Formats: sequence, structure tokens, C-alpha cells
Amino acid sequence: MGKPDIFDEIIGYLKEESGRVKYANVSECILNDFFSDVEKKPGKSAAQAKPSPSTPFHPSGRKVSEMDLDELRATVNNCTLCRLHESRTNTVFSDGDFKAKLMFIGEGPGRDEDEQGLPFVGRAGQLLTRMINAMQFERREVYIANIVKCRPPDNRNPEQDEAELCIPYLKRQIELVNPEVIVLLGAVPLRYILGKVGITKLHGVWHEYNGIKVMPTLHPAYLLRNPPAKKDAWEDLQKVMKVFGKVHKK
Ligand code: URA
Repeated sequence: MGKPDIFDEIIGYLKEESGRVKYANVSECILNDFFSDVEKKPGKSAAQAKPSPSTPFHPSGRKVSEMDLDELRATVNNCTLCRLHESRTNTVFSDGDFKAKLMFIGEGPGRDEDEQGLPFVGRAGQLLTRMINAMQFERREVYIANIVKCRPPDNRNPEQDEAELCIPYLKRQIELVNPEVIVLLGAVPLRYILGKVGITKLHGVWHEYNGIKVMPTLHPAYLLRNPPAKKDAWEDLQKVMKVFGKVHKK
């Protein structure tokens, strides 16, 4: 275990105060404190369509845009549209509540996610879970997905063609879940959901996607490499909390 960070401090406070307050009263000194991330081994757990912008069809003849989540997941499980399917162990469709009001979108599975078939279960995932908890949500209450559903080799960013072939699945997920707020984790979802570049400038700025409020923030993997930036991410996340009436009082 490493030193606790800002999110641990907030979660600890919320636990102590559980049931009594609806806000996280975290001192300035905590906000100004930035620690290295907690190192834990990720725990073990779970898990021929041609959908693309030009051919959004399942072999059954169903359009991706007409599928429900079960059909979509089955389609993703069998997807061979791009080269990423060749090296995957599992597809990684989503985690959490399909009726969630809050959705998080990352870039793509890493090694742990590929092994387990679930998004954000490795080190970055553990930090994301703590960020969610600090926001006074449980991980099971939110919906988590990625731009691409198969692991890019060596954790490289998805190539443009890979992302473009995969994105109809995610867009249908967004449509079906219909969250109130989407949090984009890093530059890759910023590029493919909003068509924008420049996460360092655009994080913390409200955007909109099909009538849904969108908040870009910094990717947890980046925060692991740059712990001082956790303060900036926490500022972004508090803006999202406010939408849900969860207020952080300084
Ligand atoms: N990083 C991501 O962007 N997504 C995951 O699922 C895991 C790590």
C-alpha cells in the first residue's frame, strides 16, 4: 500500500460521515496534498457483425442502431471488424448499471481488462473507482465503457480506423443508457466523442453530445503518472457532482 491520496481522504471522510451528510467537507490542506497512488494487485473477477459507420449491420440483418444491449454485447463478442480482435482474450463491453445517470468513457482495455473482460479493473481502474467513490457514487451505480472494445497491443492508443469501426457500438450504448452526464476520460474519448483535441485545455469545460452533458477530464492512467494533476481532475469531477446535487463544501 502506498500513501493515501486525495480520493482516499475524501472517501474516508464520507465513510465517517455516512448517512449524516450529502457533501464532502474536505479541507484545503487535503486539496493541496498530492500523494503517489496506492499500489494494489488487481483482483480477479469476471468475463459476425459488420457494424461500422458505412455498414452498421449484424449478419442477422439487424442494424447496430436498432439493437438492445444484450444483442449489442453479443455482436461485440463476435466482432472481427478490425485487427484488434486477433490479439484479444476477451472483448470488454461495459461495467455497471445500464440505467445509470452517470457514464464514464475511457479509451480501451489494457492487459487486466482484456484478461477479465471488464473495463477499468487494473491500476487505472482502481483509481477510477476511488474517483467515483469520492464523487459519492458507488461504482455499480455508474456505467463504464471504452472507445474500443478490444485491447490495443502494448497499450498503445487505438488507431483511427479501429476507433471508427468500434464507435457505433459505443454510440448505441450511449443511446440506450441515456445518461444525464458523460465523463470522458482523457484525449481519446475527447477526440472520438466530441471530435476535439486538447485535453489539457478542454478538461473541466462542459460540452454536449446529443443533448447529454459531457465533462472531459484527465485519464486515471495519466493521474497515476502525474499525481499533482489529481487536483485538477477533482475540480472537474466536482462540477459533475453538482449536477447531481452532491456538493463539495470547502
Ligand atoms: N484504460 C482505459 O481507458 N480503459 C480501460 O478499460 C482500462 C484502462
